[in-house]
Amino acid sequence: MDHFHYRDGVLHAEDVALTRIADEVGTPVYVYSAATFRRHARVFREAFAGLPDVHLAYAIKANPNLAVLRLLASEGYGADVVSGGEMARALAAGVPAAGVVFSGVGKTPGELAAGLDAGIGQFNLELEEEGEVLADLAHSRGVRAPAVLRVNPDVDAGTHAKISTGKRENKFGVAISEAPAMFARLAARPGLDLRGVAIHIGSQLADLAPLEAAYRRIGELVAELRRAGHRITRVDLGGGLGVPYRHDDILPPPAALGEMVARVTKGWDVQLQFEPGRVIAGNAGVLLTRVVWVKPGVAHPYVIVDAAMNDLARPALYDAYHEFIAVEPGGERMTANIAGPVCESGDTFAMGREMNRVARGDLAVFRTAGAYGATMASTYNSRALVPEVLVDGDRYAVVADRILPETIMAAERVPDWL
Ligand code: LLP
Repeated sequence: MDHFHYRDGVLHAEDVALTRIADEVGTPVYVYSAATFRRHARVFREAFAGLPDVHLAYAIKANPNLAVLRLLASEGYGADVVSGGEMARALAAGVPAAGVVFSGVGKTPGELAAGLDAGIGQFNLELEEEGEVLADLAHSRGVRAPAVLRVNPDVDAGTHAKISTGKRENKFGVAISEAPAMFARLAARPGLDLRGVAIHIGSQLADLAPLEAAYRRIGELVAELRRAGHRITRVDLGGGLGVPYRHDDILPPPAALGEMVARVTKGWDVQLQFEPGRVIAGNAGVLLTRVVWVKPGVAHPYVIVDAAMNDLARPALYDAYHEFIAVEPGGERMTANIAGPVCESGDTFAMGREMNRVARGDLAVFRTAGAYGATMASTYNSRALVPEVLVDGDRYAVVADRILPETIMAAERVPDWL
C-alpha cells in the first residue's frame, strides 16, 4: 500500500498535489512519500514480531538519500552498506555505527579500515583473503572485528539474471562446501570475532520457495559449525523480497516471509538479520515527468517525456516494467510507446503501452520508482542529475538538488597544454 492517490482528479503524494511540485521544483523529479516509507518499515518489522532477536539493516543501495536514511533510522533500522560512501551516508544520517552491516564483494583495505575506525557492527566477509586482511587491520588496532561469512547457497532465486546472486557461478559469497573449513581458519585469527554466516540470493523475488531452500541450507551449515565447536550467534538472511510493479501483481507479503522464517529458523538461537531494500523503498517513490512531445510512430505514437534512462535506468537495464499514469487523467485511453530524450533507442520505457491519454505539456509519473531509481541516475547526455523531493503530510522538502551540467563542468579540468 502506498500514499499516492487521486484527489479531485489530481494525483497527490499524501496531501501534496504533484502539479504543485512540478510547478515549484520542475521536472523530472523523484517524489517520495514519508508515510509510505514509515508504513513499509513498520509492516516489515511486524512480520518478525514473534522472533526474539531481529536486526533490520535497510539496504541503503535501494535509496540512499540522507532524508530517507534519517527517517528509517528513526524507525529503528540499521543500514546494510556496500561501499565507504554508503557507510559515510548511513553514519551522517544518524544510523548508529553498531547497526551498520558492511556487505559487498569488493571492499578495499581502506574501506575495511574505515569501518573498523567507525566501529561498525558487522563485516560480511566475501572471501577468505578479505577476512585475513580485516583480521590484520583489526589486530594492529588492538580490536577484534565483528564479522560473519557470506555463503553462496547455490540456489536459483528465479529472478532476472542481472539481479540474481545466490547461484554458484555468481561472484558472491564462498561455496557452501568450503565454508566449514574456511570458517575454522578465520575463526582462529585473533583479529576476528567471527559470529556467524550470511546469505543473499537475489532481488525482486516473487516466490518464497528459493529463499526457504537457501535458509534451510544455512540452517544445516549453522548446525555443522556448532558441531565443530564454533559459537554461532548471528545469521544474516539478506534482502530480496519483491514488490508489485503492476497493479495486479501478486507478491508474498512481508507477513508470509515472517511466517516462513519463523518456521524454518525455529530453534536456531541466533540474532536474525535482514537487509530489505526494495520492499521498503520501491512503492514509496514515483518519478514525476512532463510530456515534451507526442510524436507519430509506426504502430503507435511515441510519448516523449522529459525523464530518460539516465534518471530511471531500470527499463533499459533489466527490461523492467514501471506503470505510467497521468497526473490529471481525462477519461480517455491511448496505446503508445514511452521514451525519453536520450540519444539511444534503449532510452525507451515502454512499447505499445495501454495508458491514460496524454498530450504535450501533461504531467505523468512512473510508479514504483522509490528503489533503484535516483540512486542509479547519471548525467549521460549532459543532463542534470535528477532531484528528489520528500512529502510528509501536507508539506514537502527538496531533499536532493537538481545538479546542473554547470556544476558537473566545474569539476572538470582542461589541462593548459591543450
Ligand atoms: N543485501 C545485499 C547483499 C544485496 O546485494 C542487496 C541487493 C540487498 C541486500 C537488497 O536487496 P532488495 O531487498 O532490495 O531486493 N538495481 C537492481 C537491484 C540490485 C540489487 C542488488 N543487491 C534493480 O533495480 O532491480
